[in-house]
Parts: sequence; structure tokens; C-alpha cells
Amino acid sequence: MIWWDDYMILLDEPNFKTRLSKLLRTSRIGKSIFLFNELDSTQDYAMTLPNSESLHGTIVIAKIQNMGKGRIGRTWISPEGGLWMSIIFRPNFSVDNIIFLQFIGALAVVNAIHEITKIDCKLKWPNDVLINEKKVCGILVDVNLENENKKIVMGIGLNANIDSSSINNFLNNGNLKATTLKEECGNDIDLLFLIKSILEKLEHYYDALLSRGKTLEIIDSWKEKSEMFGKKTIVYDGNEKFMGHVIDIAQNGALVMKLTDGSVKDIIYYSDVSIQT
Ligand code: BTN
Repeated sequence: MIWWDDYMILLDEPNFKTRLSKLLRTSRIGKSIFLFNELDSTQDYAMTLPNSESLHGTIVIAKIQNMGKGRIGRTWISPEGGLWMSIIFRPNFSVDNIIFLQFIGALAVVNAIHEITKIDCKLKWPNDVLINEKKVCGILVDVNLENENKKIVMGIGLNANIDSSSINNFLNNGNLKATTLKEECGNDIDLLFLIKSILEKLEHYYDALLSRGKTLEIIDSWKEKSEMFGKKTIVYDGNEKFMGHVIDIAQNGALVMKLTDGSVKDIIYYSDVSIQT
């Protein structure tokens, strides 16, 4: 485990923004930082910021969210101690690439957690980060395509320095239980260095996504970190339910499943994915 005892900085330090800006080695992501003690949702706040070229890479962080949003209309419980952050992108790529934003968000988190704690997280398609089969982080990608200047907000909800008992009682996460970095490591994690690491890795993957052909590398990196392959899996898509085994991730980011009737199905639209143990 890497420790920065001398620099242990929590979100409420008055100079948090200045320290983060000084530490960050990125060219766009995190260059503009909004930090709040309390917000309903960093995701919603980010969406209301007026769209402009300079908004790309802006981040919004809140110590507490009162109405944190999860996928498919779920509530995201966001007490103090977690990392609740949204990052704004103004991408000039096709909407088909949006699924890859979920992949790179999750990959950035997995690599940053490994750098800071040496814990090996696993990925669940398309955007969950797991430790010992429990969810430690979820990624939410919201898209506004109303005008020709697309705005995409990536929300990262990372259970960092909190107790899972404060969230598990309220969870509505399919069959997944929650865990937290604090519980997995046995101590608090320095959020400043965690955020720095996530943002730097995110920029690296985002640049890879922008260069043509790198989506295959992103898929390969994602596959390396996932233990879904070969496992019995159920995918819910509205009223439909597909049962089978995961065999691959397709070039367009779809989950490729061999269904129990022997047919192969690419899943891109889904409401929930459940891996059976
Ligand atoms: C999921 O359902 O797995 C995604 C959860 C995403 C939660 C984050 S916390 C920061 C941002 N603000 C929100 O309201 N939601 C996202």
C-alpha cells in the first residue's frame, strides 16, 4: 500500500482545489474544478453548466449528495467520505462510441485504485467496479445531444472512506452487495491522490479513445480486468431476459453471450446484468 501520511488531505481541506490543481498532470481534464460541500447531484449540476468549448474536462465534486443518481433511475447513496464526482466531455466522436466512455471510466478507476492501494479490482460489463464480487464503484454516463455541441457527463461514484452498512441497507443494485475502499484496506484513503490518479488515467484512456483504432485496445484492457467470461449470466432488457454465458466483448462494445439455446447474442441495450456464482 502506498501512503502519503504527510499529505493526508480530505475533501474538506480549504486548499483542496489548489493542491489538486498543482498535483494534476493532465492537459484538459480537471483544469477547472467545482467543489461543493453538498449538492443534490454532481451529475445534474454538471449538466446545467453552460456549454462552451472550455467546459471540456471540467470536474464537479461534492462531499455529500442528497439525491445522487445511479443507473436506470436508481438512487445513489452518497454520504460524506465517498468520492462523488462528475467529469464533463465535449466529444467530437460519434454517439456509437459513448459506450466506450463507460469502459474508460471504469478502467481509470480500477488502475487508480491499484496504484493507491494495490487492490486488484474486477470489472462487470459495462461499468461496475468490483472487489471480491462486491460493488465499490459505478459509472454513469449522461448525454445531452440537443444541439450540435454534444455534452457528455461521466459520473463516478466511488465508495471510498465510508462504511458499507451506511449504504447496503438502502441499496437497489440487483444482486450486488456494496463494499468500500476503507473496509477493503482497513484504513482511510487519501482522496486527493485518488482523484489525481483517476483523472490522469482517464485522460490517457480518453486520448486513446479519440485516436482511431484504439477502441480495440480499450476492449482488450477491459477484458483483462473482467472475470465475467465463461460465467453463467442473466441479462435483463426491459421485459426480456437472456440467460447464458459471456463469451466476448464485440468491437462495438456489446456483451457477446452464448445463450442456453446455443445461439449467440450481442447485448448492447440492457437494464441489468447479473452474474451467477
Ligand atoms: C451506477 O448506478 O452504478 C452509477 C452510479 C453513479 C453515481 C455517481 S456519484 C457522482 C455522480 N453524481 C450522481 O448523481 N451520480 C454519479
